[in-house]
Amino acid sequence: MAGALITGAAGFIGSHLAARLLAEGLAVRGIDNLDPYYPAWIKERRLATLRAAPGFDWRPGDLRRADLPALLDGVTWVFHLAARPGVRASWGDGFDEYARANVLATQRLFEALRDRPVERVVFASSSSVYGENASGDAGEEAPRRPISPYGVSKLAGEGLAWAYHASYGVPVVALRYFTVYGPEQRPDMAFHRFLRALLEGREIEVYGDGRQTRDFTFVGDAVEATWRAARAGEPGAVYNIGGGSPAGLGEVIAMLETLTGREARVRLSPARPGDPRATRADTRRAREAFGYAPVTGLREGLARMAEWMPGFLAAEAALGAEHGAA
Ligand code: UGA
Repeated sequence: MAGALITGAAGFIGSHLAARLLAEGLAVRGIDNLDPYYPAWIKERRLATLRAAPGFDWRPGDLRRADLPALLDGVTWVFHLAARPGVRASWGDGFDEYARANVLATQRLFEALRDRPVERVVFASSSSVYGENASGDAGEEAPRRPISPYGVSKLAGEGLAWAYHASYGVPVVALRYFTVYGPEQRPDMAFHRFLRALLEGREIEVYGDGRQTRDFTFVGDAVEATWRAARAGEPGAVYNIGGGSPAGLGEVIAMLETLTGREARVRLSPARPGDPRATRADTRRAREAFGYAPVTGLREGLARMAEWMPGFLAAEAALGAEHGAA
């Protein structure tokens, strides 16, 4: 059985990827530091399902201190998804952890990958590396001008990926995911917060004028892209991974009202620094290289998330757990 290492295996995308690779018959080793950016019970809950699978090898730990040669032993594919996420929280003192998790830990992992016979390393990058340039037709060549420290940290990760590829032949492929959503979405992200507010009868807080748009990507499509990139992405290359469903927040809220049968009460609050006005992924390169084509549209993806949310809220209530990150 070929082996995969997933860093950030308890995360939103990482846990979905782990389930998918286990279903493919791969042995999956997962590391995660259960970073306190949002409550640990959410990650433990994802892990509980994964740990029930015989092919899953759980290695709790932090990439900055872990025994990386042992972690990489027998591994064919590496998926480096571990990161401090979140655009809006990356300002101020918070940046310290972004630099450590997204830059220093990434460099340490790439260093350990020198001279390792791995098939591919997939690095999770982000549409946030473009800043306000994420909606043109220039594809991956659009200028990278991040407008948040988080985007800067992801761009630094891409830079490291390139350096270790160019100088040591590490076969890294970087994926720029565009606002991924679906079941298990992080509690700080828009759809999670909107759905929770609707179901709990609270106001939905929209940042700015609400006219920002995103190329929302269903997590199943992001996972499919990731596994395809691991097999057929060109080492050294970068690919946009978008969902093909650019939409504004108003449209999303209207769909959520229909899905939940509840009427939204929206409160506008100040726009958050670091949030781009619009993103739209040009995914031609990923389509040509590894046949990526998103299959889950926004309405269907939101329906899947709406089905998942009540169980999540019930688990939270049963635990008497703290609410998700603000
Ligand atoms: C998301 C992820 O959180 C990042 O980790 C990822 O790197 C990034 O996508 C990406 O595409 O690269 P973001 O687009 O901000 O970042 O995703 P959401 O948190 O779902 O926010 C979407 C929009 O809704 C933003 O404009 C945000 O300002 C807005 N929003 C969010 C609200 O109006 N209210 C909220 O309560 C939350």
